[in-house]
Amino acid sequence: MQLGYLAFEVENLSQWHNLLTQVIGLVDVGDGRYRMDQYAWRIQIIEGDADDLHTVAWELTAAELEETLQRLRTAQWPVIERDASAIGATQRWALKDPAGTDTELVVGLPKANTPFHSPVVPNGFVADDLGMGHLVLTAPDKQASADFYQNLLGFALSDHIVTQIFGHPVDLSFFHANARHHSLALGGPLRKRLHHLMFEARRFDDVGLAYDRAIRAGVPIMQTLGRHPNDKMFSFYAKTPSKFQFEFGWGGRRIDDADWEPTTYDHISEWGHHPPQVVLGSRK
Ligand SMILES: [Fe+2]
Repeated sequence: MQLGYLAFEVENLSQWHNLLTQVIGLVDVGDGRYRMDQYAWRIQIIEGDADDLHTVAWELTAAELEETLQRLRTAQWPVIERDASAIGATQRWALKDPAGTDTELVVGLPKANTPFHSPVVPNGFVADDLGMGHLVLTAPDKQASADFYQNLLGFALSDHIVTQIFGHPVDLSFFHANARHHSLALGGPLRKRLHHLMFEARRFDDVGLAYDRAIRAGVPIMQTLGRHPNDKMFSFYAKTPSKFQFEFGWGGRRIDDADWEPTTYDHISEWGHHPPQVVLGSRK
């Protein structure tokens, strides 16, 4: 299983377009859709008032979908079939996660006929079979969400981070669906449906170049360059026009379930990931 695509309902389409194409380096393929690998598209932006995540689509094989639908039916979890042809897929089922986030299970997302090329990130992104990246979703009832993703959708626990940041408790759980260290993380309740989504570049320097592009474009940097202890991602965080964040990284860890032991970390970064106010010396 992998993170197949994300749809966002956003107030400012042009700001989003500029962020996706000029800062992050995706390619506009029309209809509000953006490409980052051999998949025809991975992100869709729709104009609307929510200014938030609209849909999270997980792609599975047809056999995996059958097993998952069976588990959902056994648990009497409501799931409805949607028009797969509208997204060029072969199967498409819709459900809500315990936080109420619109979720889809899809099979056979369309692929592009041409090689991916980004003029901004010429070496491209780590995506394809590992999915488009990861996201951290709101989970007002974290245990209910963890149970849903593990027991019904089939995610496996990667690890936890339990710590404090500037006096605020942080309790994150990370889950994988393939070799990517995590495709999904759950924290507590959030103002938006997600804290951030993550893009992983293939080349180290592309993180620094994206950091420069964000600064020059006036995109607010939320966390400076740093490295996480669990997925080892070297990354920075910046704010999208819809106020939630995106992470741009390189060097994420891969998991082999044969020898993976989930652990709990007591810090969120090995180094870096400071709020810019701290760098400026203006935050106690
Ligand atoms: Fe992340």
